[in-house]
Amino acid sequence: MNEQQWIAMDEYLCDRTQTPDEALEAALKLSTEEGLPAINVAPNQGKLLQMLAQMRGARRILELGTLGGYSTIWLARALPADGTLLTLEAVEHRADVARRNIERAGLSRVVSVVVGDAVDTLEAFLRDGVPPFDFVFLDADKKSYPEYLRLVLRLSRPGTVIVADNVIRQGRVADAGSGDPDVIGVRTFFDMLAADSHVTSTAIQTVGSKGWDGFSISIVS
Ligand code: SAH
Ligand code: DHB
Ligand code: MG
Repeated sequence: MNEQQWIAMDEYLCDRTQTPDEALEAALKLSTEEGLPAINVAPNQGKLLQMLAQMRGARRILELGTLGGYSTIWLARALPADGTLLTLEAVEHRADVARRNIERAGLSRVVSVVVGDAVDTLEAFLRDGVPPFDFVFLDADKKSYPEYLRLVLRLSRPGTVIVADNVIRQGRVADAGSGDPDVIGVRTFFDMLAADSHVTSTAIQTVGSKGWDGFSISIVS
């Protein structure tokens, strides 16, 4: 098996399970034009996020790592009209691109893009008594996943679902001797999940248009 076959298979699956979507396609087009890296989730991953949030009946969604707002649009479409999605992005220009994409998708009423380091923003949420979230998508810098998990758990309640992207990284996460801060971050994140009796977790490897990677899913009890 090679990456060309994974991509062909992803194309086949997306063709059979998705309909062309102007807002999502325009979001990727503007992101490319504005020079953003193409590290957004794949269309079939975006739809999985949307369906998981829908299955959860999420009314309040938190996303760490907005980029151009591609995964944001998928997730926000899972919300009822009076739902809320807060998405955190460190880079002002990326947040601007995301806001334009979210506006075009007609989701400005439910989505707020918050600019700043996600740790600072989450600490501010805790200080301000922001209500807990039903669904969290963790997709900002991987080295900070342990700190994000610690804070996100304090913004969770029983039943909150936490999905973390990029927890495989071409299999590098299995290397206990790795010096890569991202790998160490993800490994510490898994150690924290394993040690927490109030969290039930699984993790799935994926291949496809995004290479070999994967995600974890946790439910807080
Ligand atoms: N969720 C997006 C992809 C996010 S890529 C999608 O699938 O469409 C990761 C993003 O996290 C980048 O845009 C990066 O700028 C942002 N990021 C990195 N470090 C961050 C930090 N400390 N705080 C907030 N955002 C951060
Ligand atoms: C990178 C970040 C992501 O969120 C992703 O899905 C793929 C790659 C990165 O920073 O390289
Ligand atoms: Mg990602």
